[in-house]
Amino acid sequence: MDVTIRPATAEDEDAVVALWRACGLTVSYNDPAADFRFARGRGASDVLVGADAAGRVVASVMVGHDGHRGWLYYVAADPESRGRGLGRRMIAAAEDWLRARGVAKVHLLVRETNTRVVGFYEQLGFEVAPRVMMSKWLTGAP
Ligand SMILES: CC(C)(COP(=O)(O)OP(=O)(O)OC[C@H]1O[C@@H](n2cnc3c(N)ncnc32)[C@H](O)[C@@H]1OP(=O)(O)O)[C@@H](O)C(=O)NCCC(=O)NCCS
Repeated sequence: MDVTIRPATAEDEDAVVALWRACGLTVSYNDPAADFRFARGRGASDVLVGADAAGRVVASVMVGHDGHRGWLYYVAADPESRGRGLGRRMIAAAEDWLRARGVAKVHLLVRETNTRVVGFYEQLGFEVAPRVMMSKWLTGAP
């Protein structure tokens, strides 16, 4: 599929949030528009989008690093454009983004309700890493 992958602009916000909603990536405790604004265009994070020939946003990945490892979030391909290599290209672009910043390893989290996507990542060279992930809200539990 003919897509141009580029950093998202502020004007992409509505389209990107709509894509995330269409892909089932939004949850009640995260405001996706706030997530987009917080990550986009920063030194250590960005949102990359894939735009089709008409300029429509059809894929995304949020990429960043924490000073040590890289992280991916909001990996999304438009439901009507799946199975055509979009997801693979977005992951490759995010990996390039991280390599360019000297990051040696990339991590991502898969929700327990979304384990069907594990095969996609394995296809791209990721492996399941047995760890106990711990977390804590710093702003009060939602
Ligand atoms: C995950 C997602 C981004 C994949 O996008 P896509 O454009 O359909 O993926 P691609 O076409 O690039 O697939 C890349 C490879 O993975 C394979 N693949 C895709 N989905 C797969 C799955 N669920 N299980 C196993 N393999 C899968 C493809 O067959 C392809 O293999 P090939 O290159 O050998 O043919 C898309 O399904 C999506 O947006 N899902 C909903 C959002 C989501 O769950 N995101 C991840 C959150 S952790």
